[in-house]
Amino acid sequence: MAEGTARFDYSGKAVLVTGGSSGIGLAIARGFLGAGAEVTITGTKGGAADYPDDLSAFTFRQLDMRDNPALEALAAEVPRLDVLVNNAGTTFRGAEALLPENVEATIQINLNAVYRLSHALHPKLKDSGGAIVNIASMTSYFGSPRVPGYGASKAAILQLTKTLGALWAPDGIRVNAIAPGWIDTKLTAPIQQIEAIERPIIERTPMGRWGRPEEMAGTALFLASDQAAGFVTGVTIPVDGGFSAI
Ligand SMILES: NC(=O)c1ccc[n+]([C@@H]2O[C@H](COP(=O)([O-])OP(=O)(O)OC[C@H]3O[C@@H](n4cnc5c(N)ncnc54)[C@H](OP(=O)(O)O)[C@@H]3O)[C@@H](O)[C@H]2O)c1
Repeated sequence: MAEGTARFDYSGKAVLVTGGSSGIGLAIARGFLGAGAEVTITGTKGGAADYPDDLSAFTFRQLDMRDNPALEALAAEVPRLDVLVNNAGTTFRGAEALLPENVEATIQINLNAVYRLSHALHPKLKDSGGAIVNIASMTSYFGSPRVPGYGASKAAILQLTKTLGALWAPDGIRVNAIAPGWIDTKLTAPIQQIEAIERPIIERTPMGRWGRPEEMAGTALFLASDQAAGFVTGVTIPVDGGFSAI
């Protein structure tokens, strides 16, 4: 195959997707699985059988991103790693989202844990010449008055992606991110029920609809691929139906 004409073949590659138990993470995990990878996913529940989707094709690990020793233990247990997808994330809502302790908890889950896990896996990614794909957000670019902790964490993910891309380039590790627009998952299910929030989102999205989790997978496979994206590092790609274009 000519250079640059990549087909995604992840045969023999080890991929870890945090928060792969549902939504965007599950869709990305399925993308890597379909391209031949051995995929480990994490979720907050005790086992794969606790989820509505069939997760039996994956290796499942329970992980709470607030638990620093668990993050270190997961990194130690993974025998080797080619691709780390830092996808797990969450938010508080309403008045709860404004409480300082909840802002701190959100930043722990969405940002601090991402750095801790990436740092702990750095030696294994260096050994493989691997790649990291982070999950940013439209709140990486725009203010997010309803969810300050979420917005701060996702803005920092964009910055951390640039920083780690530069810091680890000499080690042969590429670090990039996807900034999803508004995607139909259990995270956004509550706001999809509130017309006063839902309608402006759709009206502001040039493509005029919610994105599907599956629509994130192709960009993840691209960014992680040395063949397709071997000179790409430190970037965040919006996959947002045009939301950030206007
Ligand atoms: N949906 C969107 O519109 C959108 C837009 C931009 C960015 N994102 C980002 O995309 C990522 C995936 O979100 P999603 O929309 O796919 O939501 P989702 O379906 O709720 O998936 C979130 C995943 O993160 C895991 N998780 C949540 N809290 C955790 C914690 N404290 N410790 C460890 N894992 C935790 C969940 O585990 P359980 O399944 O066990 O709960 C689940 O696997 C997040 O980083 C989110 O911020 C989403």
